[in-house]
Amino acid sequence: MKKLLKIAVASPIAALLMSGCAPSTEKTVELSSSDTSCKSAEQGAVVASKFDGNMNDAASLASAWKNASCTSVMLYPQKTVHSNDKNTNGLMADAKGVKASVKALYNDQKIALMVYWDDSEASYQGESADKYSDGFAIQFAKDSSDPKKLPYVGMGSDDRPVVIYMQKSTKASFEPNGNGKHDMQLDEQSLNKFGEELKDYDKEVAKLGDSDFQKAFVAEGFRSTTELRDAKNSFNADMVHENGKWRGTFVKDIKDANLELSSEFPIALAIWDGNKENRDGQKWLSSWVAVELGKTQGNLEKAVTSVPNGNVANGKTLAVENCAACHIFDDQKMASAMQAPDLSALGGQSTAEYIIESLKNPSAVVVPGYNRNAYPNFKWYELADGKRVSTMPAYDWMSEEQLNDLAAYFKTLK
Ligand code: HEC
Repeated sequence: MKKLLKIAVASPIAALLMSGCAPSTEKTVELSSSDTSCKSAEQGAVVASKFDGNMNDAASLASAWKNASCTSVMLYPQKTVHSNDKNTNGLMADAKGVKASVKALYNDQKIALMVYWDDSEASYQGESADKYSDGFAIQFAKDSSDPKKLPYVGMGSDDRPVVIYMQKSTKASFEPNGNGKHDMQLDEQSLNKFGEELKDYDKEVAKLGDSDFQKAFVAEGFRSTTELRDAKNSFNADMVHENGKWRGTFVKDIKDANLELSSEFPIALAIWDGNKENRDGQKWLSSWVAVELGKTQGNLEKAVTSVPNGNVANGKTLAVENCAACHIFDDQKMASAMQAPDLSALGGQSTAEYIIESLKNPSAVVVPGYNRNAYPNFKWYELADGKRVSTMPAYDWMSEEQLNDLAAYFKTLK
């Protein structure tokens, strides 16, 4: 009997995800028409539109989304992370940048973000055991009071924590026969179920609700993440695949126990492509982008979009002379892959301030997530008084001009 049961839980799960403050993502939102008019995040901030209304009001939300201005954000494969899966590394080896478009709405209590990007083939978690799901994440800096000292963009770093909200795509359906066919499913109401069966059903629903599909955590690097279970009540995220695009929506309180957002704050985006076996650190990642709620001074925007006025050709000469022994970048492939982080996409994921800080004071941010015991010949850091100290030499002896030239050159690598 049990084997014949096919139970759809799509509606209870959707209800679970959409409960509370989630905005309904109406089909009426037109994405493609506004796409071409999106200004680039390299030139400006994501400016949130004031939403005078209740975020649960689907109709007025839909028209507000339509009218909100959009910003295009480039994401690049995160190269500092090496998977131990050769197949996955191969799939990502020649991967290029992905463009996402971002819109934002806010009212006195809440901020809502919409992110959409092209992905011709959706893949879902739970479709089969060897498939990975698409997904997206929005990362916030826990403290961005000094825009020159933002956390490491790839999941934070020691003493510079980030808060990350992640949503993976899921059909959220219980399909006990394992043949992947969801179309024949029945819903609970139309089943004559009693007692034990209903208990089993509830258990399956609970399991889905608890799984990894939606997650919030604080991180100071890959190896120090703390899941925020209580955050489940303070944010909502959702993903819809339509016309070859994913549309992710995200709503959270502007102020909650884990994060207090001011009128300008940085976000970074991550996208996972299940068809490219993306999971964990294997993903596309943007640089920090400023979000502005109403009119602001624009200080953060200036800090994250600033382009060094250095000489790119001279920067490359300096880089080949000083950096290629340890780092892979551009056409420089002499260093071993594990020796130091791959800098091939550094410009797409880092602000100029960060690159200059890395040169003057390498220990200010030690790229996290690297297992130094696995590669004793290539220790990225030493430990001193419990702190990580970078093994990269400081280039504080260089002139401002040389540092600017190097930063100008590395900003071109993406
Ligand atoms: C002796 C080897 C060595 C040399 C030479 C070296 N680095 Fe590094 N670099 C490292 C190591 C190891 C790390 C990882 C630890 C850390 O974050 O400091 C690193 C990290 C970095 C990072 C942070 C990477 C990221 O993904 O955020 C940047 C940027 C960087 N180096 C730039 C440079 C530049 C530019 C030069 C040349 C002027 C250079 N490095 C020279 C070893 C080196």
